[in-house]
Amino acid sequence: MNQFNKTVVLILAIAFIPFPALAESSVEDLSAEVRTLLKKEMAALEKGMKLIIPAVISGNMQDIEKIAGQMKNSYILKQQMSKHQMHELHQKLPHGFLKQDGEFHRLAGMLEHVAKEKNTELVGFYYSKLVESCVSCHSDYATHRFPKLDSHQPESSHETESSHEH
Ligand code: HEC
Repeated sequence: MNQFNKTVVLILAIAFIPFPALAESSVEDLSAEVRTLLKKEMAALEKGMKLIIPAVISGNMQDIEKIAGQMKNSYILKQQMSKHQMHELHQKLPHGFLKQDGEFHRLAGMLEHVAKEKNTELVGFYYSKLVESCVSCHSDYATHRFPKLDSHQPESSHETESSHEH
């Protein structure tokens, strides 16, 4: 390799190596244990969101209140995470993530509250706000898991999209 090529390779290396790392969500920097707990929490959230539907359509406000309360309290993260792991979560995740997490917990608390008040209309409203907050955080921090939410890199969704769709 001549000097020019070496320089080009070096520039390319400097220019492009850091970018995939930057583009990747920072949850991928978490330790395996913390990340497992985060995924467990996410699975619990999805289960909760699914369970709210039969409760809504049967007017079971008590169940909605209970499920929303559990979501508000992040029961898995709080119950199973050590202080040290909690610290890691707060240290490694960007401020925007924690902000969206805070907003999500606020909305879950609102859903719990309006279910307690038996306000069906607002239950529907806060349920949809919660769905929006899942999508919003995933669009910013979980596109490695949900590539179709990646608005900045439409080509990456083509790569991962299964061919039987559309
Ligand atoms: C504050 C950010 C944030 C919010 C709010 C959020 N998520 Fe997530 N979610 C993530 C991240 C980050 C991942 C990817 C985790 C990983 O790859 O380690 C994820 C992954 C998931 C997964 C896949 C888990 C797996 O095993 O790969 C599911 C399911 C999920 N979320 C459901 C939900 C639901 C349902 C909601 C709303 C009720 C929600 N999430 C709200 C950040 C969030």
